[in-house]
Amino acid sequence: MRTLITEEEVRLTVGRMASEINACYGRRPLTIVGVLTGSIVLLADLIRLLEMPLRVGVVQASSYQGVERGPISLNAEFMPEITGHDVLLIDDIFDTGRTLAEVIACVRELAPAGLRSAVLLRKTGRQEVGMQPDFVGFQIPDEFVVGYGLDYHDEFRNLPYIAALEPADLANQNP
Ligand code: IMP
Ligand code: MG
Repeated sequence: MRTLITEEEVRLTVGRMASEINACYGRRPLTIVGVLTGSIVLLADLIRLLEMPLRVGVVQASSYQGVERGPISLNAEFMPEITGHDVLLIDDIFDTGRTLAEVIACVRELAPAGLRSAVLLRKTGRQEVGMQPDFVGFQIPDEFVVGYGLDYHDEFRNLPYIAALEPADLANQNP
């Protein structure tokens, strides 16, 4: 495993993202919705830098059983009422983009006043959808990364920096 983005670089970039979001919404009330589980660290850091009246919720997206890469089902039990509210979705990484695009489609059905998205990372050359997130922390190479919320087999979410797994790590499953 090797460090791709240091803790300090993450801190500075999350600060820059927060400034962009503050500038975009001003004092308008906002509902932030994190996509579980990868967004939790970004969510926790970001909300403490936002200055508008804020509500926070989470959703969980899961693929339907038996379908390799089909539509998702969205558990919105822990998201507040959003009809007529401005919503900002937060996710860890925009890889193919399918997860975020599908979450956006589901949330849009609930008729928010506005719907934007923010991700910490966007992988280069991987996108399979027409949309782009509105706020992006880092553009990264096409490597498998962990830390700051991102996992490999449910591990490493707690690393305070972003690390790239090396081929040997992936082969061993014991980085
Ligand atoms: P997408 O639907 O292909 O954009 O994938 C998004 C989801 O795949 C993310 O929310 C992550 O859970 C997972 N993912 C994609 N790339 C990585 C990675 O490099 N490390 C860890 N998780 C990843
Ligand atoms: Mg995820």
